[in-house]
Amino acid sequence: MKLTPEQLAEFDKEGFLFFPSLFSPEETKTLTDAVPELYSHRAPYNVREKGSDAVRTNFAAHMTSEPFARLARHPRMIEPVESLLGEKLYMHQFKVNGKMGFEGDVWQWHQDYGTWLNDDMMPTERAMNVAIFLDDVNDFNGPLMFIPGSHKKGVVEAKHDLTTTSYPLWTVDDDLIRQLVARGGDKGHYDAEGNYVPGGIISPKGPAGSMILFHSCLVHASGSNLSPWNRVAVYLSLCAVSNHIRRHKRPEYIAHRDFSPITCLPDDCLTKDYPVETPWKNGVPPSALETSLEPFGSTVAAVAAQASEGATS
Ligand code: SIN
Ligand code: MN
Repeated sequence: MKLTPEQLAEFDKEGFLFFPSLFSPEETKTLTDAVPELYSHRAPYNVREKGSDAVRTNFAAHMTSEPFARLARHPRMIEPVESLLGEKLYMHQFKVNGKMGFEGDVWQWHQDYGTWLNDDMMPTERAMNVAIFLDDVNDFNGPLMFIPGSHKKGVVEAKHDLTTTSYPLWTVDDDLIRQLVARGGDKGHYDAEGNYVPGGIISPKGPAGSMILFHSCLVHASGSNLSPWNRVAVYLSLCAVSNHIRRHKRPEYIAHRDFSPITCLPDDCLTKDYPVETPWKNGVPPSALETSLEPFGSTVAAVAAQASEGATS
C-alpha cells in the first residue's frame, strides 16, 4: 500500500493518518477470536487493571499466537510505515490493549518515544506507532485522543507516574497539555450547520479493522471505558532497523531484541494459514526476562548523552 503525496503531507502536519476499515470483518475476526486465549494466561506479559482481573495490556502476542504473528508481517501495515521511515523495520513492541467494558482504565497523556529513548536508548524518533481496532471504537468506549501537531515538539518533559494506573507511564503534566492543545487549535467549535469542527484534540473513531499510524512523539491519551462495550486494539511499534535500541533495561517481552528486518507475507495472510513461527508459544524463555542497565553497541555514548529527562510507554 503506497501513501499519496497528500497523505505524506497530512502525516507531517498532523502526526497521524487514519485508515477506516482497512481490514475486513473476516480478517479482523481471526484476531478477535484469538484474544481470549491470549488474556487467559497468568503471566507477566498480561498486565491487569488496578484492582481488577481485566487485562489492560498483553505484550508480545506476535511471539505466541499465529494470527498475531501474521498481522505483524502484514503488507497493508508494514509498507506504508517503510515508506514513511525510508527503511526496513523491526518490531520494537507489540501490545493488545483490552480497555474492557466498565473496567478499562485511562491512559494518561503521554508520548512514546521519550520512554524508548530514556529506558531503551533508541537513538532517534524513527519509529512508528500503529493502532488496529479489534472492536468498533465510538464516543463511549474510551477512544484514543491525539493532540494534532504535537509531534513537532520532539520529546517533551514528562514525569514517571507509578500510581494512577497499574502500568507505570511517563506522563505529561496538565500545563504542558493545555499549551499543546491551545497550539493545536484549542477547543474546536460547532459550525453554522451544527457540525463539530475539531480543535486541538482529535479522536479517530471507526469500525473494527480500522488502522491509525501515529508518530512516536505525538502526545496521546484515552479516557476510561464506562460503556459496556470492550475496546480491544492492537498497538505495534515499528522501528527502523538502523535505529534499534541500545539497552535491555526492560524485559524482552516489552522491548524486543530481534532487530532483523520484517519480511511481509502476502496480502491475504489473515485469512489463509501461511506458516509463521511463534517461538514463545510454550512460554517466554528466562533470557527474555533478563535485564541490564548497561548499554551495548558503538553509538552508546551519543545516545546516552541524548537521553536526559523522560516521557512514556
Ligand atoms: C490506549 O490503549 O488507549 C492507549 C495505549 C497507549 O498509548 O499505549
Ligand atoms: Mn502510547
